[in-house]
Amino acid sequence: MTIPNILGDTLTSHFDLIREIEIGLLDKSPSISPKFLYDPLGSHLFTAITLLPEYYPTKSEKEIFLQYKNEIIRTIGVGGTLIDLGAGNCQKAESFFNSLKPSSYLAIDFSIEYLKEAVTKLSGKYPHINVQCMGMDFSKKILIPESISENKRVFFYPGSSIGNFLTSEALHLLRQIKDQAKGGGLLFGVDLMKEESILKLAYDDPLKITAAFNLNILNSVNSLLGSDFNIDQFDHKVIINHNENRVELFIETLEQVTISWPGNSRVLKKGELIHTENSHKYTLKGISELLKDAGFLKTQIWTDSKDYFAVIYAQ
Ligand code: AVI
Repeated sequence: MTIPNILGDTLTSHFDLIREIEIGLLDKSPSISPKFLYDPLGSHLFTAITLLPEYYPTKSEKEIFLQYKNEIIRTIGVGGTLIDLGAGNCQKAESFFNSLKPSSYLAIDFSIEYLKEAVTKLSGKYPHINVQCMGMDFSKKILIPESISENKRVFFYPGSSIGNFLTSEALHLLRQIKDQAKGGGLLFGVDLMKEESILKLAYDDPLKITAAFNLNILNSVNSLLGSDFNIDQFDHKVIINHNENRVELFIETLEQVTISWPGNSRVLKKGELIHTENSHKYTLKGISELLKDAGFLKTQIWTDSKDYFAVIYAQ
């Protein structure tokens, strides 16, 4: 069996994660960082979301990749190192292996355990590709190890996760990618602004999978912080914020509750909201300007037949 190279991780310490959760919970407007949505169950629930008929981003992106694959490959060129940000089960990147023919593949994710399993399978299947993986909280800082060749680095960030950052944070992330691509580029997905009814259904589906995904963040916090959130006392809430061009996810308190954890507690009133995620929706003009600001001077954009989603290669 070929064993993938597991590079040292740059994950935040357990102590810092706990501190980050506490600060969010004790704030006047409480919040929990979306990265805590992706514990093992949360990662599987997210995969289930991508299969929902109402969750259009995955389907729209797939349509673009299918229709424009040859053009995308021609634009990027073959070879080099494919750097997969938020690799998850690595399936999307794998679908480009035969056409992009990378000599190396570096999978990066916050959830290293989920990742290790996926890359072990991959390195057995593609022994000619140097498969490596790293745990990294790239929402804070991207740090590609010096051992990774600087020859044609292609960052891959599909699925519109760029939208989960505030615009200022997205700009910071894009600048770091531009800097570390060393003349290579970034292939990524971005969700476009659309009618409220379509957004509402995509983030509040009738099967309640997104509700489970959102509420599971409380389980994830309970196991990290040792808190006593009881899911039955909370509900999933979605707000479409037109001023900020984003979908906002919250957890709403159904009755007054006191949440306790070692060393602290917090009372939440009935109807109080805990913010868990933003999902920004861009216009093509907005994302092009952001890329220019980040130093990407050349961009190629592909959209799906409904103009719901865009795939961009930026250099
Ligand atoms: C990961 N990210 C692109 C998803 C989104 O659409 O913003 C996360 C998600 N949240 C609820 N449904 C999906």
